Amino acid sequence: MPMERMNALPQVIQDAVRGQAYTRNTTGLSGAGVLMFEDLVLKIAPDDQTSRREAQMMGWLQGKLPVPRVVHNAVENGRAYLLMSRLPGEMCCHERYMNRPDVLISLLAEGLKKLWQVDTRDCPCRFSLDDRLLLAEDNVRHGRCETENVEPDTYGPGGFRDPEHLLYWLKEHRPPVDPVLSHGDFCLPNLFLQEDRVSGYLDLGFCAVADRYQDIALCYRSLLHNADGTYGPVYPNIAPERLFSALGIAPDWEKVRYYRLLDELF
Ligand SMILES: Nc1ncnc2c1ncn2[C@@H]1O[C@H](COP(=O)(O)OP(=O)(O)O)[C@@H](O)[C@H]1O
Ligand SMILES: [Mg+2]
Repeated sequence: MPMERMNALPQVIQDAVRGQAYTRNTTGLSGAGVLMFEDLVLKIAPDDQTSRREAQMMGWLQGKLPVPRVVHNAVENGRAYLLMSRLPGEMCCHERYMNRPDVLISLLAEGLKKLWQVDTRDCPCRFSLDDRLLLAEDNVRHGRCETENVEPDTYGPGGFRDPEHLLYWLKEHRPPVDPVLSHGDFCLPNLFLQEDRVSGYLDLGFCAVADRYQDIALCYRSLLHNADGTYGPVYPNIAPERLFSALGIAPDWEKVRYYRLLDELF
């Protein structure tokens, strides 16, 4: 946002960041505007269930997990403005960690296990598999599902005809749910590390109680694609399946496939 449009921000936000320099962060794929100030971050997104859930879960998780502190959460003209503290450390996809696969994978496993230890009895948000499928249906109806920038075997010969066909299959093949606190978009840019420890969880718009494999599947896929050159350099020493030994579980490849496919509709 050019400086002259700062006056388009809600007043509380303008007052909090007045005169401070910022850079725009273009890491995320959600289309949200993310402005990085020295100690604060402003995320601007459409005012919808997802942005409301993000602010609510960030508040609820204070003291339970390392998450940014909510400084202001303002809604104006159909937009949500989340002003939060800036997390220390770096994203998991930083080369410092990508070049040390054992450390990276054990920290990702730790990041997952910490989520699973959170007592969810008073969790304020819902986003069950049914809710996710409903939102997927809405995305399909409104033509919001990409068919180009997706896993190569999703559509076409041997795969699904189109997003509608995939949605139908997903509804018919719901796996049994093993509920835990799920981050909801557990990919490498959404987990921060500092001095070889988990320093923060970000991007909480889909955080709620859901199946353990919601996060395992996206973590596995994110490791794979951050290492195979999809997003930049190739890191041949990263073996994504080591995530399972770090977690101490045998992979359930059916569930990995199901939750990866489900994510194609988002
Ligand atoms: N509070 C924060 N502290 C530090 N970095 C942040 C913070 N919020 C966002 N970022 C940076 O901006 C990126 C995009 O923000 P994110 O909330 O993940 O948006 P998106 O939903 O578009 O992925 C993150 O991967 C991270 O690098
Ligand atoms: Mg993100």
